[in-house]
Amino acid sequence: MKKIILFASGSGSNAENIIRYFQEKKTAEVVAVFSNNPSAKVLEKASNLHVFTSVFTKEDLNSGEVLLKLNAFQPDLIVLAGFLWKFPDAIVAAYPTKIINIHPALLPKYGGKGMYGMNVHTAVLENKESHSGISIHYVNENYDEGGMIFQAEVEVANCQTPEEIAVKVQELEQIHFPLIIEKIMKQTL
Ligand code: GAR
Repeated sequence: MKKIILFASGSGSNAENIIRYFQEKKTAEVVAVFSNNPSAKVLEKASNLHVFTSVFTKEDLNSGEVLLKLNAFQPDLIVLAGFLWKFPDAIVAAYPTKIINIHPALLPKYGGKGMYGMNVHTAVLENKESHSGISIHYVNENYDEGGMIFQAEVEVANCQTPEEIAVKVQELEQIHFPLIIEKIMKQTL
């Protein structure tokens, strides 16, 4: 069975959805969740679903420690599901075209350093965008700049708050992210 490793920093709604999807479909398996945040809700969610979890520091990530742990799993795909640190070049180089990220906006708009979670939705609202959406892309050495795999958009013209935009974008994430991961694993994308 093909193996997926998730990286997540926060509440883990995407991670939970992906784990549940593959536990049901059995077309691949989430073998571990790695997090930089020891109090992230994602760790509890993964443990409740009997998925191995690993917490690491910035030093572990940048010294090669995390790469060693990753290598031990021999993952087929590494998925950043709300992971908020820059991914080190050494891991990107070790897993070319095997690392993907989801971004809660229509890249190239609203990407780059500091653009994550609610910051993105606040910027979208302030700029009075009529649409926002999700971008699923390969990870390279630069924030949010790897090759685009998939985008979906939603109308946000009537949204009054960043939270309302977040709800609409999260709906897209829940629908599309597991399906796109599955297609990548089957190499039908
Ligand atoms: C998601 O909306 C994801 O798109 C975003 O963080 C959120 C994590 O939510 N990622 C980024 O902003 C990356 N730049 P979750 O922890 O509930 O899955």
